[in-house]
Amino acid sequence: MLLKDKVCVIAGAGSPRGIGYATAQLFAEHGARVVMLDIAINDDIVAGLKAAVAATAGPEADVVGISCDISKLDDCKRAVDEIVTRHGAIDCLVNSAGIVRGTPMLSIEEDEYERILTVNLKGTFNLCQAVLPVLVARGCGSIVNLSSSAAQRGGGLVGGAHYAASKGGVIGLTRTIAREFGPKGIRANIVCPAMIETSMLDGLPENRLREIVAAVPLQRAGLPREAAGACLFLASELGGFVTGATIDVNGGSHIH
Ligand SMILES: NC(=O)c1ccc[n+]([C@@H]2O[C@H](COP(=O)([O-])OP(=O)(O)OC[C@H]3O[C@@H](n4cnc5c(N)ncnc54)[C@H](O)[C@@H]3O)[C@@H](O)[C@H]2O)c1
Repeated sequence: MLLKDKVCVIAGAGSPRGIGYATAQLFAEHGARVVMLDIAINDDIVAGLKAAVAATAGPEADVVGISCDISKLDDCKRAVDEIVTRHGAIDCLVNSAGIVRGTPMLSIEEDEYERILTVNLKGTFNLCQAVLPVLVARGCGSIVNLSSSAAQRGGGLVGGAHYAASKGGVIGLTRTIAREFGPKGIRANIVCPAMIETSMLDGLPENRLREIVAAVPLQRAGLPREAAGACLFLASELGGFVTGATIDVNGGSHIH
């Protein structure tokens, strides 16, 4: 039990095949009091997660869902207020909410650019800005932000220039939080996945997927739970002296 009774907020936990959901599940299995934040969350999704962790965390696992559009600062503040009222504190925030588009550079329309940047970068910023005062008040806490190998290698397998730019911004944002809030006892780190089997890979044709997998040193796509494992390390005291770091979860597809 690496997170016994820790209040852990997972943004982007509403997709049962996603990294955020897998993180919520793994954290609940480790005894966390889990808050699933998502623009698309409902009672069935929360009940499904509770059922999935019943064998390890018991039938009374403390898991709640709160609807939140991270692109809106007011919504993030409202969600954080709700969490603090309920739990009295926040120990950890994982930002896994995100959207992707693979549009080629010269075809990206202004609206699409704005939406990708507003959700992925401003949304991450909004939630960090809403949660940080709560962490500062207690002098401890851990933030884990999901970036992407697209930010490191120049474009993703499915993400275009706007997506890569938004995820590069997440790295800069997180490193700055690590430097600014380290003296206040708060850690902030980045997980950079690639090729994790979630709905984000659904758009890739089967033969393209096979080609990509053949070029991955580990010769397979990753599981959401494997990205969640990196989040668990960073959220828990196992990663207690780690801040400003970037952990790659990419099967070796980008070694640098
Ligand atoms: N799957 C991969 O291979 C991969 C690779 C690199 C990076 N990532 C990153 O990992 C994170 C999780 O990706 P995933 O593959 O699990 O995707 P996913 O689509 O399964 O999950 C993303 C979740 O974010 C939620 N969301 C979208 N917009 C939101 C908003 N405005 N407010 C609140 N929630 C919102 C969605 O409803 C969804 O539940 C993302 O940030 C993604 O960019 C994934």
